[in-house]
This record gives sequence, C-alpha cells and structure tokens, in this order.
Amino acid sequence: MGWIPCSGYSGTKNKVEKMEAQDSLVGQIKATTGKLKRNSSTKSKDTSKNGNPDHIAAQTFSFRELATATRNFRAECLLGEGGFGRVYKGRLESINQVVAIKQLDRNGLQGNREFLVEVLMLSLLHHPNLVNLIGYCADGDQRLLVYEYMPLGCLEDHLHDIPPGKKQLDWNTRMKIAAGAAKGLEYLHDKANPPVIYRDLKCSNILLGEGYHPKLSDFGLAKLGPVGENTHVSTRVMGTYGYCAPEYAMTGQLTLKSDVYSFGVVLLEIITGRKAIDNSKSAGEQNLVAWARPLFKDRRKFSQMADPTLQGQYPPRGLYQVIAVAAMCVQEQANMRPVIADVVTALSYLASQRYDPNTQHTGQSSRHAPGTPPRNRRGQ
Ligand SMILES: Nc1ncnc2c1ncn2[C@@H]1O[C@H](COP(=O)(O)OP(=O)(O)OP(=O)(O)O)[C@@H](O)[C@H]1O
Ligand SMILES: [Mg+2]
Repeated sequence: MGWIPCSGYSGTKNKVEKMEAQDSLVGQIKATTGKLKRNSSTKSKDTSKNGNPDHIAAQTFSFRELATATRNFRAECLLGEGGFGRVYKGRLESINQVVAIKQLDRNGLQGNREFLVEVLMLSLLHHPNLVNLIGYCADGDQRLLVYEYMPLGCLEDHLHDIPPGKKQLDWNTRMKIAAGAAKGLEYLHDKANPPVIYRDLKCSNILLGEGYHPKLSDFGLAKLGPVGENTHVSTRVMGTYGYCAPEYAMTGQLTLKSDVYSFGVVLLEIITGRKAIDNSKSAGEQNLVAWARPLFKDRRKFSQMADPTLQGQYPPRGLYQVIAVAAMCVQEQANMRPVIADVVTALSYLASQRYDPNTQHTGQSSRHAPGTPPRNRRGQ
C-alpha cells in the first residue's frame, strides 16, 4: 500500500516547526475546551451518553491513521465535497468503527478558524440530534475532522435531483426529519449556555442516520450567542445564499431568530421538494421564500405547495399546519418569528400523527391546533 507522506516529516527544521504548530493547535483546543467547560453550563439531561456531562470525547488521530482508514483518500471512498474540503468514508481499526473523515482544503483561507470552532463546539455540545465528532487530526498542516458515519447521507440528496428509482421521502419521514432537526436547534438555542447561533442551517448540513434520524452538522460558522442584555451579535455576513435571514444579510446582526428563518427555509424545502434557490426555474420561482409568500395567504393554494413527488399522499390538515409553521419562521420581521421551542412543540405533534396513505387515516384530532403563538424566550 502506498502512503501519502505526512508533510510535517519532510525535513528536520521544518519538522520541528510544524510539530510545534501542531502541538500548539492541539494545546489551544484542549485549553479552550477546558476553559469553556468550566465557564459554561451546556449540561442538560441530553449532555452525555455515559452519564458524565463534562466528557470531552474528541480524540486526536495521526494523519497516517486517517490515510489508512480511507485507503489513501481513495476516490471510491469519497462521500461528497463542500466549501471546507472533501469528505471520505473510512474505517478506523483502532476503534473498529466506520467514520466520515473531512479533509480541510489547504488552500482555504477560512479553514483553520472553522476547524477550531468545529472542534470546540462539538467537543462541548452533545445531543441526539447533533452529529458526533469522534476526533480530529492536526498533523503538520493537515487538518481533518472525524465524525460518526451517517449512512443515509444528507437531507439535500433525498429532496432534490433524485436519481430515477431512488425512493422518495414519504410524509411521515419528512415530519420526523423536521421535528428532529428542530430539536437539535432547540438544544443549541435553549439548552446550551451561552446559547449557540448555528448560522449554517441548510439541507446539506442535516445528516441522516438509520431510520432517517436527523443530526445537524457543520459548526464551523457557529457563534456563541448574545449574553446578558444584548439581543444580537455583530458579525461578518456568512452562511448560504437563500437561507440567510433578511436582517442578517443586510446588517450582519445575528440573532437566534436568524437561525429560525433558515429553519423555515429548510422546512419549506421539506414540504415542497424545491430548492432554496433554483436558477433553473423562471424568475418568480427562483427564490423559494419569495415564491411561497403569496401562497401562504390563501389556504386554498396550500395543496400547490406540496411536493408533487408525494403524489397527494399527505394529510391535508397536517400540510396546512406545517405550512403555517414554515410561514411563521420565514417572516420578514425577526421578532414575529417563533422561538425554536414552539416550533419543536408543533412539529413533534405533527410527527407523532402517523399518516397512512392506505387508510387515509391520519389520527389527527380536530380539537387540537398545534400552532402556538410566537413567544419571546430570550428577550428577542
Ligand atoms: N458524517 C457524515 N456521514 C456521511 N456523509 C457525510 C458526513 N458528513 C458529510 N457527509 C457527506 O459529504 C457531503 C459534503 O459535506 P460538507 O459538509 O463538506 O459540505 P456541504 O454541507 O455540502 O457544503 P458546505 O461546505 O457549504 O457546508 C455532504 O453533502 C454529505 O453527503
Ligand atoms: Mg456540510
């Protein structure tokens, strides 16, 4: 087997310098996670699998170990590619586990900072709807992240440009994914302390495990949220076009409600099967939110919004309710958007109502309306 030489081992002087840089990055990660751990209380009943809420599980791996795990980053192991770099499937012999390994593109400028934030965030935050970071590698100038492998890939691949013959997501699965993703966001907003603004919610960052169990991934852009009297943090506008809340795109003022807007866009994609931005469509239909807004006003038009691939197999009342939730989330005015906890309540209810296309029985009670009015939980 051919080895990719680790760039940190090319010459004695270089070697010392690079190993020092690597040590200092690993040291920085360890020191910062320790400090944050003492200062923050991300402890919740979901915090740990092993009953120890303080556990920082991320391990360090050598580049050589990860090269072996992916058979030298072989093309057949490639799972996908994003702005950060390529993602490979691999098997780590030392822990006998299949993993996903993300290799930072060394030409990327943002990379190192995002790498650090990702490791710090995922070392502190643990929830069944957040992807698990198993470890990382900071060997020489190599930066790699090792995650649990999510066998069903990302939500985007199940909603858009689906190859013929691939199973479409049914209504129940869509509601399950929406409710689970909302729970992950609720953990970041309401259980983490200080709250975390995710900033990069989109379908490609919702990964799917067995049974379509959703987990949020990619925390490289996340920000610790406003503390005390502050309602926002100011930052450079980053994120993905089509998902950014209008006030954030215009002023750079980031609040928890910016995430709620992005969640609303994702929910619209789940309902309609349309992309947040689709340049192949006619002018009025390219931006999903702009297309949906006039339809929100007329209940009779709601059936036009349902993904045609569902072939009418959805509960009409459930469709109405989930569109109402999405409409609230994507409101122009940030303070009119609901807090994520209310979104979780509504979507968990909808997900619990199993729709059976054979009997057309949804089990939904007409007594209960899940849409709860927007509330201000964090003083936004
Ligand atoms: N833990 C994982 N398990 C399985 N597949 C994964 C995992 N992480 C990422 N992937 C796959 O790799 C692809 C690329 O992911 P990546 O996060 O690098 O980019 P992205 O989310 O598509 O774009 P961006 O960089 O803009 O966030 C994903 O679309 C997904 O299919
Ligand atoms: Mg991603």
